[in-house]
Amino acid sequence: MSSLVIAGAQWGDEGKGKITDFLSQKADFVVRYAGGDNAGHTLVHAGQKLHVQLIPSGICLPHVQNVIGTGVVVNPKTLFAEIDYLAAHGVAVHNLKVSSRAQVIMPYHQLFDQLQESLKSEKIGTTHKGIGPAYQDKLERIGIRIADLLDPETLRLRLEQALSVKNLLLTKVYEQEPLDFDSIYQEYLAYGEKLRPYVADTSYLINEALDAGQRVLFEGAQGIMLDIDHGTYPFVTSSNPVAGGAAVGAGVGPQRIQEIIGVAKVYCSRVGAGPFPTELHDETAQTIRDTAHEYGVVTGRPRRIGWLDIVALRHAKRVSGLTQLSLNCLDVLSGFETVKIATAYELDGQVIDYYPASERDLARCQPIYEELPGWSEDITTCKTLADLPAAARAYLNRVCELVDLPLATFAVGADRSATNVLGQLWRD
Ligand code: GDP
Ligand code: IMO
Ligand code: MG
Repeated sequence: MSSLVIAGAQWGDEGKGKITDFLSQKADFVVRYAGGDNAGHTLVHAGQKLHVQLIPSGICLPHVQNVIGTGVVVNPKTLFAEIDYLAAHGVAVHNLKVSSRAQVIMPYHQLFDQLQESLKSEKIGTTHKGIGPAYQDKLERIGIRIADLLDPETLRLRLEQALSVKNLLLTKVYEQEPLDFDSIYQEYLAYGEKLRPYVADTSYLINEALDAGQRVLFEGAQGIMLDIDHGTYPFVTSSNPVAGGAAVGAGVGPQRIQEIIGVAKVYCSRVGAGPFPTELHDETAQTIRDTAHEYGVVTGRPRRIGWLDIVALRHAKRVSGLTQLSLNCLDVLSGFETVKIATAYELDGQVIDYYPASERDLARCQPIYEELPGWSEDITTCKTLADLPAAARAYLNRVCELVDLPLATFAVGADRSATNVLGQLWRD
């Protein structure tokens, strides 16, 4: 058995898709364990940039069995659109399984995502994909699962029950028109039939693969700082991107997880509202945004940009049990005279090295920066640490020293060939 988790160690968009695709070259299974089509993972295959939202990022490699795990909330419409999109780009999706226990995103989830946001004085800035409302229904136990779509009677019962609650809320609270049972029922029944060949008890498959000594990669979505329990609540998503979420979301025992790679960019980005202590509002931010094209894959919103935050990375390491670090986008920092790393915060005159839970405390935190010499060389063809300019090498070394984690990979571009391996990655 060999297993590893790829978890975003910041606020999402760290390059998880790219690293997953890269590591898939040596994996048997790639399993998405949380989130839904709020995710936008970019990978480069056969010279073209591809975006996936629900389908795991191992999909371009035909030897990989890709799995959408139980912890994922699945919008069937997005899933089929994505299958067509991949086919149009020369990637056949014949190696995909979807958990029969995964929750389904229904049309009312997207509607409620917008309605709930509209009532908030402080908006989260969700992706409006219905993620929060779908997880809410799961916990309220009025959700509809993939297995339910395959059985007309169960779907009828579940949908009637859910719609009775939703339509009351829509008409009495939000003063909207009620939703029509029949059209939703027919649409989702048809999705069920189309999904049938993909549906499986995926926990069974994954555990069997691990028992047979195969390599399983668990691909996270979002980032640890967006975790519903350990992130910057309430400005978070509604799932558990932390590595622990892989055990629950895939249906494997925690002891099955061997290595946990935290993926980070060498600066920070965030889409949507919420605390971001190292955020920059100057030319540096715009330069980084332009160089790396930092715009959301799903919503197209410009990403907020800031210097690397070691306090947040240490928090991510602690709550997720990171064992290795993958650092992306080193090439993006070429050309700055100096580069900064926040090593701690100052809160009301005190130096702190932890991420405060209180929103009001966080808002008063001032990052304490260490300033390092920058580099101006184009580093996009560098393959080893020795190839890098001394200042870029020193920067990577300092980050790893501060977070106290070994460097698994560093990347100088979005292509597979621009990811350079340093660490052990897989344990076997
Ligand atoms: P994910 O959600 O974590 O998979 O990340 P996204 O795909 O949303 O965002 C990462 C962006 O950075 C994508 O546009 C990638 O193509 C790009 N990217 C990833 N690694 C590198 C890198 O090392 N250098 C540069 N310049 N771009 C990168
Ligand atoms: P990947 O997997 C970056 C953010 C949204 C919003 C908050 C809640 O590509 O890294 P939601 O729709 O989940 O209820 O929105 O979370 N968010 C992401 N930000 N990358 C993502 O995914 C994200 N998924 C959600 O912008 O602030
Ligand atoms: Mg993304």
